[in-house]
Amino acid sequence: AATTRYEAETSPAVCTGVVETEWSGYSGGGYCNATNSTSGYAQFTVTAPASGTATVAVRFANGTTTARPATVVVNGSTVTTASFEGTGAWTTWSTKTITVPVTAGSNTVRLTPTTANGLPNVDSLDA
Ligand code: GCU
Repeated sequence: AATTRYEAETSPAVCTGVVETEWSGYSGGGYCNATNSTSGYAQFTVTAPASGTATVAVRFANGTTTARPATVVVNGSTVTTASFEGTGAWTTWSTKTITVPVTAGSNTVRLTPTTANGLPNVDSLDA
C-alpha cells in the first residue's frame, strides 16, 4: 500500500514542546522539539486499513552524542522501545523503523522519552 507521511507539527499530531524550524532538512512546516523531560512527547494519529501490524518510520535528528530512547505507546499501551541515537548534527535526519500493532482505523502512536533529555527532534512518521 502507499505510504502516508504524518507530520509531527500537523494536527491531529501532538507535540508537547515547540514546533521548530531552526534546523534545516525537515519535511512539512517544521518538526517537534519536545520538552527535555520524560513528560514531553510526540504523538501521531495513524490510519490503518485493517488490524494487524504496521511498520512505521520515524524521521528524527539527535544532535547530541547521547541516545534518546523512548517507549512506543500505541492506543495507550506500551508496545516496544526505540533508541534514537545521535545523528551527528541537528540538521542530519535519520529514520527509525518500528513495527507496531494496529487496529483498523485511527491509532495513536506516541513516543514517550525514558530519560530527562527527552526526545530527539521528531519530523514525521511514515506508515
Ligand atoms: C537544542 C536544539 C533543539 C533541540 C534541543 C534538545 O536546543 O536547538 O532543536 O531540540 O537542543 O536538546 O532537545
